[in-house]
Amino acid sequence: MRVRPATRDDIPYILRLEQQSPNAAHWTEQQYRQAFEREGPERLVLVAEAPLESVPETNDDPRSVRMGFLVARHLAPEWELENIVVAESDRRKGTGKRLLDSLLAAARETNSEALLLEVRESNAAAVAFYEKAGFERAGRRKSYYVNPMENAVLYRYRVL
Ligand SMILES: CC(C)(COP(=O)(O)OP(=O)(O)OC[C@H]1O[C@@H](n2cnc3c(N)ncnc32)[C@H](O)[C@@H]1OP(=O)(O)O)[C@@H](O)C(=O)NCCC(=O)NCCS
Repeated sequence: MRVRPATRDDIPYILRLEQQSPNAAHWTEQQYRQAFEREGPERLVLVAEAPLESVPETNDDPRSVRMGFLVARHLAPEWELENIVVAESDRRKGTGKRLLDSLLAAARETNSEALLLEVRESNAAAVAFYEKAGFERAGRRKSYYVNPMENAVLYRYRVL
């Protein structure tokens, strides 16, 4: 499996995957498009993919299957993890961790102090994932989410 920077061609995949995942953050196509534009905050959009080894790769037809993505925003001296989703059939194989490690590498390269994120209180898988990765609870926002309304838990990972 490898992690690579996403391109605009990945947007339909990203949208499909996040729409299949009720716990993911839900953005419009336009919002994902903005993540690739020069204006606005610096963004990191990554895709994890695995090669399909049995089929020879050509430039026109890369033989790989995408397994997940991550979107993060650089608000120096911090990075905010805005969304991370791994396809349901590919979970618990280390893909999420690989994506997160790539964000962490970017945070170190930009001399950042911390990674921040918020997560629905009921999202037990993500909470376990972040806590295993070393994130610490940094607060709680009451009724932060809508549809359905729910509290957010804030997490922080100290980079430096
Ligand atoms: C959260 C998510 C990205 C994790 O991705 P993943 O590829 O399954 O995670 P990994 O395989 O890298 O897991 C690393 C570790 O995190 C912990 N973890 C991950 N998922 C877990 C779960 N469902 N229950 C308990 N622990 C879990 C485990 O300690 C795991 O290590 P292990 O499998 O060796 O025990 C994935 O569950 C997902 O896409 N969820 C839906 C979208 C979502 O909720 N995104 C977060 C929005 S804030």
